[in-house]
Amino acid sequence: MKKSRRNFLSSISMLAASTALPLHAFNFGSSKKLKIALVGTGIRGITFWGKRLVDQYSDIIEFVGLSDINESRLAYGKKYIAVSCPIFSDFEKMVKDTRPDLIIVTTKDSTHHQFIIKGLEMGCDVLTEKPLTVDETKCQAILDAEKKSNKNLIVGFNYRWSPYATKIKELLMNKTIGDLVSVDFNWYLNTYHGASYFRRWHGEMGSSGSLWVHKATHHFDLLNWWIDSEPNEVFAYGDLEFYGKNGPFRGDNCRNCNHAKECDFYWDISQDEFMKELYVDHEHEDGYIRDNCLFREDIDIYDKMSAQVKYADNTTLNYSLTTYSPFEGWRVAFNGTKGRIEASQDIPYHKINTISEAEKHTNEMAQTNKEELSYEPIIMHKLWHEHETIQVPMEKKGHGGGDKRLQDKIFKTTDTEDPYGRTAGIRDGAMSILIGIGARRSIEQKKVIQISQLTDLKPQKKR
Ligand SMILES: NC(=O)c1ccc[n+]([C@@H]2O[C@H](COP(=O)([O-])OP(=O)(O)OC[C@H]3O[C@@H](n4cnc5c(N)ncnc54)[C@H](O)[C@@H]3O)[C@@H](O)[C@H]2O)c1
Repeated sequence: MKKSRRNFLSSISMLAASTALPLHAFNFGSSKKLKIALVGTGIRGITFWGKRLVDQYSDIIEFVGLSDINESRLAYGKKYIAVSCPIFSDFEKMVKDTRPDLIIVTTKDSTHHQFIIKGLEMGCDVLTEKPLTVDETKCQAILDAEKKSNKNLIVGFNYRWSPYATKIKELLMNKTIGDLVSVDFNWYLNTYHGASYFRRWHGEMGSSGSLWVHKATHHFDLLNWWIDSEPNEVFAYGDLEFYGKNGPFRGDNCRNCNHAKECDFYWDISQDEFMKELYVDHEHEDGYIRDNCLFREDIDIYDKMSAQVKYADNTTLNYSLTTYSPFEGWRVAFNGTKGRIEASQDIPYHKINTISEAEKHTNEMAQTNKEELSYEPIIMHKLWHEHETIQVPMEKKGHGGGDKRLQDKIFKTTDTEDPYGRTAGIRDGAMSILIGIGARRSIEQKKVIQISQLTDLKPQKKR
């Protein structure tokens, strides 16, 4: 039983999926369901890892406990998820009293390590939201704890699971452009999403590790997975030139700011019922202000980031992250020995209809299934040939369809083989943050940082 259980969770930490049995094949406790305890009842915790799990998988999982330091938000979270389990402000007490099979960690980034390490030590499997953690010391502590434990740690990387990201992986895996030699990757956050990071704890280096870690962990994970090698060294630049101390004025928080009329970023959180119920109604307990001024002086993260990374297989990467772009989107280009792949998402000026008449007909047919289908192109350009446009059927909801596929793989279709290797384990979690942490150290020390100097992980030529 113990071995079979381990097999199940092994499959979700990137070990051979074919050796795993589906979740429903196991006898988890008296209720025969996987017992889950969740820590961190903020937006990600109560929506994606809370209500969605209850709505989609209640036949195979049950919540046995919820925990948060803000007891008032915790009580709201329980109501929102609609579960009857007990709630705890003390994480250890929750684990002791409820003996969960799986702990889900959705607290703020700088605290993930506490719950991952304690959870593993107390004999539970752990699923943590990205990023694994925020610095190299905490990363090493997690690596050590996982080594000592016979339990598993899964990192919830959802971006890999979107059909668009998967199509790029397929083209690279099939060597359509020969051997990969270099990659250009640019991510543009707009003045809504980008600004949102500067309104709360993400704007403090100590809480989020900066967007080099909090946000770029997604990008570096995709890149490590696409490139299929591990990062060796990184050199970076970064500055804070727009938000924080650079703003022309500042106030205590947005909703009652004296500059509401003149500030382009004005946002009245109390007009959003869900945001008010989740954050504003509980700020008296811990002073967590969700609509902080994004021009406050204590913001100490970068809002402009640029890095060069060299992989163990000699692939080079040019990376940039912008946080106040007029639009939200990204683009990537892969150069190989036999050609080039270009891909992008949500660049407004690329929205021209490139679908052929035959494909339009396919779209029409698909409409009859009441599915609103859209397509996004990937350009494949082989040396000495005309370029080809590959149209990828798109989903917009839940991180490009990645969210639901990730959860299905973890909870439902555990036993299905995944030729793209999309489930991420601890090494993937670590490698994706180590690029961002290395970038931070590079900016501080003005030199190239070797990834192998950050923890005891030695980068491998092939992932
Ligand atoms: N994969 C994704 O696309 C994605 C999207 C959003 C958020 N996330 C991740 O999910 C996590 C939560 O993000 P969020 O937006 O829900 O944040 P949030 O601020 O809304 O919620 C965090 C919760 O953690 C609680 N908390 C903080 N410190 C704690 C501690 N020491 N002990 C117990 N509880 C504590 C807070 O009270 C709050 O309720 C973050 O790690 C974030 O990076 C991932």
